[in-house]
Amino acid sequence: MQGIQIIGMGKGVPARRVENEAFTKMVDTSDEWIRSRTGIETRYFCEDEMQMDLCVDAARQALANAGVGPEEIGLCVVCTITPDYHTPSSACMVQSALGLPEDIPAFDVNAACSGFLYGLEVVSCMLGSDALPRPYALLIGAEKLSRIMNFEDRSTCVLFGDGAAAAVIRPSDTHRFFCRLGSQGDAQALNAPGIGYPEPYIHMDGRKVFQFAVRAMENGIRLLEKETGTRAEDIDVFICHQANERIIRHVQKKLKLGDEKFFINLNKFGNTSGASVPLAMAELMENGRLKPGTKAYCLGFGGGLTWGAAYLEF
Ligand code: UT7
Repeated sequence: MQGIQIIGMGKGVPARRVENEAFTKMVDTSDEWIRSRTGIETRYFCEDEMQMDLCVDAARQALANAGVGPEEIGLCVVCTITPDYHTPSSACMVQSALGLPEDIPAFDVNAACSGFLYGLEVVSCMLGSDALPRPYALLIGAEKLSRIMNFEDRSTCVLFGDGAAAAVIRPSDTHRFFCRLGSQGDAQALNAPGIGYPEPYIHMDGRKVFQFAVRAMENGIRLLEKETGTRAEDIDVFICHQANERIIRHVQKKLKLGDEKFFINLNKFGNTSGASVPLAMAELMENGRLKPGTKAYCLGFGGGLTWGAAYLEF
């Protein structure tokens, strides 16, 4: 079976960093509550930036790091629940900004915090197809969640952040890739009605999503072990959706895995939904932790309720 290789990544982060303390002026909360219940210390919010600006910054960096030119891209996919426009898609906006070829597919994927996992699977299937005239895919996870947050709701506004990260991906016979995706069709636990509906903000039953998240991660790891013939203890790094440090630590302890293997950067970025997994991956790559031969389990969960689990070799 053909695999995929991620050959370059990049980040797009808004200029404005916001400390926990800022929320004490808006709602009844504290730095102590946010840190101890979530692990979050700061997050970034867009001011003048559009979501597309973050995508373009991330994509330019990823292309430069991969040594690939825009003219070589054969597929452009953006994973997001907060595109600037309903249409054109963020992917089409990126295509225009970067001058990508016009004979390639460009579209968005909406699978909330599992988005990048869904995107990886879509890209891996399409890269093998004759329909693509060029060898590389540009896959981006991007969110401007500050646009759909209710800054009067303490149970959600302290959690989320804006950001983007991009990956340049090519098909590979030597890098195995396996992915499994799922969804529960649950509109209650986590939703964000569109513009024009009353209260068009993120609503979340935190405890319900927490329980789902822990189950989705545990099941995902067991499934990857079974389907890929690998063992969790032999995996070099676990790249998880960055929603809450307690979710990640709970799973890591239950499965008796080393905590240094579970990368965490939610302290800096908060929960950036579709951007969270690629932001973690991009930082791991920056830090030299995704070397040739590194084996990773990648785990996502979120609105939908969706989940995704992937095995990747670097
Ligand atoms: O990315 C999509 C996936 N999302 C997630 O994975 C999120 C999963 N859920 C979580 O991470 C956690 O459930 C939260 C961080 C959202 C909440 O943490 P929790 O430990 O589950 O808190 P809770 O909802 O059980 O609330 C505990 C208390 C409540 O007060 P009472 O009823 O005990 O008096 C809340 O009203 O904490 C209160 N609370 C707050 N207090 C201070 C809720 N938000 C805040 C806040 N500051 N910001």
